[in-house]
Amino acid sequence: MTMREKKFLYGAGGSAYQTEGGNVHNDWWAWEKATPGMEHSSKATDHYHRFREDFALAKSLGHTAHRLSIEWSRIQPAPNTWNQREIAHYRDVLTELRRLGLKSFVTLHHFTNPIWVSQQGGWENPHTPILFAEYTDKIANELGDLVDFWITLNEPVVYLNQVGWKGAWPPVAEKSPTPASLWKRTTRVLRMRSMFAQAHKLAYKIIHQHFPQAQVGIANVFTTTTTPLRKWWWNTMFFQATTGAHDFIGVNYYSPPHNKNPHNLRSDTGAPIYPEGLTEILLSLGSFQLPIYVTENGLADSQDKLRANFIRSHLRAVEVAQAQGAHVLGYLHWSLLDNFEWDLGFTPRYGLVEVNYQTLERKPRPSAYVYKAIIEQSQG
Ligand code: FCB
Repeated sequence: MTMREKKFLYGAGGSAYQTEGGNVHNDWWAWEKATPGMEHSSKATDHYHRFREDFALAKSLGHTAHRLSIEWSRIQPAPNTWNQREIAHYRDVLTELRRLGLKSFVTLHHFTNPIWVSQQGGWENPHTPILFAEYTDKIANELGDLVDFWITLNEPVVYLNQVGWKGAWPPVAEKSPTPASLWKRTTRVLRMRSMFAQAHKLAYKIIHQHFPQAQVGIANVFTTTTTPLRKWWWNTMFFQATTGAHDFIGVNYYSPPHNKNPHNLRSDTGAPIYPEGLTEILLSLGSFQLPIYVTENGLADSQDKLRANFIRSHLRAVEVAQAQGAHVLGYLHWSLLDNFEWDLGFTPRYGLVEVNYQTLERKPRPSAYVYKAIIEQSQG
């Protein structure tokens, strides 16, 4: 397959907590409230109420696929409590994507947990994989007929780093002057890694019990570092822990660890821009012998000065990899809309579409039309 074939998927993504607004039952919401100086996600982009408008925009921008996440804490706000109204909401969301002819990539866990799960120890608790499996079973049962691609976990290794190692994100945030001991952090990370691996494997099995032909994977952030241990940790470790439980590889790629581009181009968050890194990563995944989807790739660029070239050069990087045999079947830009960028709040602007946070008005940036032209050109 090449990018010029009709079946190659083009789109953009987002996640529930970053876009929906009003996710009052999860640990990020509680943490923001409890952490002095932290921006509150509040209404975010109000995508929860405006998903129809947002998907219509994506469609009008030429997209053929869209990535979103389901918010576990909406579905299960308390133990053994399933919220049927919220399940119906996500049925509406996924039905709308189908109606528009957009393929859905549905993430089940994108960094946030129901508060009650966190209070029981979150991903350190050996029971959490079972809870996640129950939630997955519920979603497969109620919504699975509308899901095209399943992403069980978003960037589990980032979670291990931010939560387990640094204690920088909820639920364990430890802002104390003396960080937890090396021993404590190491055991925490290893325990969480094992819980995530179990959760993914259980979810993989359950989804396939419902839908034998399902396409299930994770979205993993990949790095171009040359340090062997770091490379193994980011690019390989989680796949080794979950061998045989992937139908595709989801690649999130942003930037290299060091600036390698001759023009010293950087995003608003200081991330260097290096499209060749994407080719390198895509080519390194050949041994999996699985289809690859770029599930995230983008930059913070409030003035939209670099985004059009960023998209052009990274899509070219995909083509270069395909020409050398990489089996890449889709590209999802991060993100469709400006959104709540975790502990950085609303400042970084990742959207193809600008959001005015006063009026919640949406306005596609010029680069969104450049992307549209590329899509139309390549798909005839
Ligand atoms: C990734 C996250 C996504 C977004 C982008 C910028 O690590 O998966 O939610 O924050 O970075």
